Amino acid sequence: MKVVKVNSYEEMSAYIAERIACQIKEKPQSVLGLATGSTPVGAYEKLCEMYKENKVDFSCVTTFNLDEYYPINPDDKNSYRYFMEEKLFSKVNIKKENINIPSGNAPDAALECKLYDEKLEKSGGVDLQILGIGVNGHIGFNEPADTLCSGTHLTELAKETIASNSRFFKNELEVPTHAITMGIGSIMKAKSIIIAANIKDKKEAVEKVLGGNITTSCPATLLCAHRDVTLVYYG
Ligand code: GLP
Repeated sequence: MKVVKVNSYEEMSAYIAERIACQIKEKPQSVLGLATGSTPVGAYEKLCEMYKENKVDFSCVTTFNLDEYYPINPDDKNSYRYFMEEKLFSKVNIKKENINIPSGNAPDAALECKLYDEKLEKSGGVDLQILGIGVNGHIGFNEPADTLCSGTHLTELAKETIASNSRFFKNELEVPTHAITMGIGSIMKAKSIIIAANIKDKKEAVEKVLGGNITTSCPATLLCAHRDVTLVYYG
């Protein structure tokens, strides 16, 4: 694993945005795996600036988001669909038909997961995957457990995740209890992965990743088995 320690959130955001822009420059038809949460917001802002300055072109890019609450209306301000539209998609020239996010209001979650994996497979797979990390070491919404799922699946959120994500909602009771998430297998199939963190908030989880021992009780440690992962962190 390549480790990049930077001094601030701004530097981390600039690093991620630069890597994404280089990826798109090298391969205009890139498939990007995208994350939500506060971690990538700065990188998305940078990419929007770069787009305005004609430094990056999303016209041939395809994106797959990691996860979405379930159930949730895509128009809900707390949906990840809304988040992505607001932070990135509405501000760059990505084609609507190239945007993929699990549907939070699909009537049949199992079918939605199956179709998502099929689309992912058909796209040729993710070239560059961006990840944040949960306080409990989750990636996407792959929560610590004895066994982890490989493909996209419906999952129950861990108590710590609900508590942590409640900052975006009125209170904890408003946080959906479930989500659809890409599985560990889908994430590990990405050709390159960047995992980003503020080490102050995620100290325990990041230290486990840096320690190199793989355990399903900290799903992010599975990344230690991937051949092209960059951990970028500050704090
Ligand atoms: C959510 C998302 C994760 C994200 C995590 C960390 O739970 N499902 O993909 O990495 O939050 O969020 P933040 O970046 O806000 O710390």
